[in-house]
Amino acid sequence: MKIKNICCIGAGYVGGPTMTMIAAKCPDIKVNVVDINKSRIAAWNDRDVNNIPIYEPGLSDLVAQTRDHNLFFSTDVDAAIAAADMIFISVNTPTKTYGVGKGMAADLKYIELCARQIAAVATTDKIIVEKSTLPVRTAEALRSILDNTGNGVHFDILSNPEFLAEGTAVSDLLHPDRVLIGGEDTERGKKAQKALVDIYANWVPKEQILTTNVWSSELSKLTANAFLAQRVSSINALSELCEVTEADVNEVARAIGTDSRIGPKFLKASVGFGGSCFQKDILNLVYIAQTYGLQEVADYWEQVIIMNDHQKRRFAKKIVKTLFNTVSGKKIALLGWAFKKDTNDTRESAAIYVADYLLNEQAEITVYDPKVTAQQIYNDLDYLGTRSSEENRRLLKVVDTPLQAVEDAHATAILTEWNEFMNYDWKEVYDLMLKPAFLFDGRMILNQQDVEKIGFEVYTIGKG
Ligand code: NAD
Ligand code: UGA
Repeated sequence: MKIKNICCIGAGYVGGPTMTMIAAKCPDIKVNVVDINKSRIAAWNDRDVNNIPIYEPGLSDLVAQTRDHNLFFSTDVDAAIAAADMIFISVNTPTKTYGVGKGMAADLKYIELCARQIAAVATTDKIIVEKSTLPVRTAEALRSILDNTGNGVHFDILSNPEFLAEGTAVSDLLHPDRVLIGGEDTERGKKAQKALVDIYANWVPKEQILTTNVWSSELSKLTANAFLAQRVSSINALSELCEVTEADVNEVARAIGTDSRIGPKFLKASVGFGGSCFQKDILNLVYIAQTYGLQEVADYWEQVIIMNDHQKRRFAKKIVKTLFNTVSGKKIALLGWAFKKDTNDTRESAAIYVADYLLNEQAEITVYDPKVTAQQIYNDLDYLGTRSSEENRRLLKVVDTPLQAVEDAHATAILTEWNEFMNYDWKEVYDLMLKPAFLFDGRMILNQQDVEKIGFEVYTIGKG
């Protein structure tokens, strides 16, 4: 079976980049990316490719190559479903904010809406691909909706979770460690699985395309994120111990990371992990374990989140304590708001929680981030609901340059590891700040001794 027409529902951080890569590598396939969010689709179609809604190094060039050749962005979901042989569901699956499982389970309402819409519109057989991250056994629910509300056409369901990380999406998609495709163990299921394998085989070596059953694939995605986040929480737990023992967490990370069984990646202590997926996926895993009555399994994974919340709070508390136990009326500069460098995504960014803590202490905050808009920063704070949006705007100012942020500040905190922060003239920063000038390096990007020589009082995570 050769796929000629793909529809992807959801033009977000996953749908946009993954479909752009498929379009670039498979010029014979027409790829329609659809979304209900009109302004997002308009941005994907903006004549100036620099205005696409997602910032990822290298992405705008790929969009320029493919858009309106074999890659199309549209809000006409029905038409794209009707025309497709294969439909990727790439919509958001956030943590539920209501009802049973509130604060833990994945909210599958967007997934269900997609299934119902596909069933209503489809008049020919389709392969449905779960691209979103989903709880194990979601395909069962999808099958039930599709078969019971459809027009008698046949649906094959595959699980093809995405492992790209934001900020490196293009290179992750170009050179994935693996592609995972779960399929049903039937003759039709195998054919559907092969159709998707053949698409990736256009640029991914065959031995890196893993095929499994659907449940293993669904569960592997949640588990991969849980393992990655666990490493960050593990090293962050040690960072606190390092601070009281004069061990250096960077040295410890290097020492343990050279053991090939442990490996060097994801051992960077930080102000805490953020992003749209780690927390939501672990909470979902915890919830799934609970629903199967596996309380110890649930408790084990929940600890990863508890440690992460502790790390964010600990960093904010450290600022207050260092500034003589009061930050009321003091100006504090935050450099970085995105949850990591090279992305404009701020979902669950540690910066939001650090800022919220400091605002509760009546600090006056200035924020500079090279890619995040002021509107987004205020939305993030307003969403927490801790104080009125007027108050957020009164106490926190977003500025256009780092020097505006640090001028007359008592303290500067680095919350995202943007390359430009490493290259600043830190002497110039020091001169603009009030004295004593405090510097809190939440990303360990500066050489502590160098900045201490300038005159800063420095706190680096994981150093006593
Ligand atoms: P996102 O919020 O950026 O994008 C989802 C899009 O789906 C939105 O634009 C929304 O308008 C659209 N949508 C929702 N319901 C719709 C409907 N019924 N019809 C049409 N469009 C609809 O989310 P994302 O970051 O791209 O994540 C999508 C999924 O991929 C999630 O399950 C996430 O866990 C997973 N994932 C994300 C990443 C990442 O780095 N962001 C990586 C791997 C996996
Ligand atoms: C993560 C996974 O890495 C991807 O494989 C996965 O596809 C994705 O989640 C997802 O499912 O959404 P992402 O959240 O985009 O990707 O970014 P990461 O590079 O994993 O970083 C997550 C957070 O951990 C960031 O805040 C980062 O600063 C922090 N981190 C990461 C550390 O604090 N230390 C590290 O050593 C590594």
